[in-house]
Amino acid sequence: MPESTTGNNSAKTIGEIVAADFRAAKIFENHGIDFCCGGTVALAAACTEKGVDLATITGELEALKSEQADRSQNYSSWALPFLIDYIVNTHHAYLHENMGPIAGYADKIASVHGAHHPEVIKIAAIFNKIAIDLGAHMKEEDEVFFPAVKRADAARISGGEPDAKDRETIRVCLLKFYREHEEIGDAVHTIRHLSKEYAIPDDVCNTFMLTYRMLREFEDDLHKHVHLENNILFPKAAQL
Ligand SMILES: [Fe+2]
Ligand SMILES: [Fe+2]
Repeated sequence: MPESTTGNNSAKTIGEIVAADFRAAKIFENHGIDFCCGGTVALAAACTEKGVDLATITGELEALKSEQADRSQNYSSWALPFLIDYIVNTHHAYLHENMGPIAGYADKIASVHGAHHPEVIKIAAIFNKIAIDLGAHMKEEDEVFFPAVKRADAARISGGEPDAKDRETIRVCLLKFYREHEEIGDAVHTIRHLSKEYAIPDDVCNTFMLTYRMLREFEDDLHKHVHLENNILFPKAAQL
């Protein structure tokens, strides 16, 4: 594992640690530490905030050293165009395929179970807003931001300077995207809270179960997606 994750981790941010070795994400997840939207917080501060023992976490991070690293998940070492294509082909594709059905199921359980479980009415409304916001966000990434990053990266690799317009696009998009990720992350946390961590009540139908399972999967996918952008892609794009 890279030296940078095994030295003094306490002053590093959660995002930096996960960017250096994605396996650290699992450790943070297990301790309830947010590695995606809360990735800019230093490890020591995150532990204090969550009441988690810093030594326990640094010990677990150290233990990763002796495990074989999965090279296929070493996202930090990937070339920018490859990382972008990976994000588009896995996470954006997942969202295009699943956001509509999840919104449909959420609406359905809101109308069928809303009387006994009023939280699902709120969940459906929040998810519908997430789907609209995330759709617009991805469109801007796909059509504006990613092409500008690819062009700027190609210019830099060929020894030239990125176009000033592309640099400006990257700068403006980054300001907006970090904020949008945070807003979408907050909305997803609200769904998690309202659903009591996706606990399925006894008196509900299969569609209810399916909806909660899909919402949980949606949150997992979003965490990985936002992590790749916030902690790996965006910092590299900012340097172009
Ligand atoms: Fe994205
Ligand atoms: Fe994004």
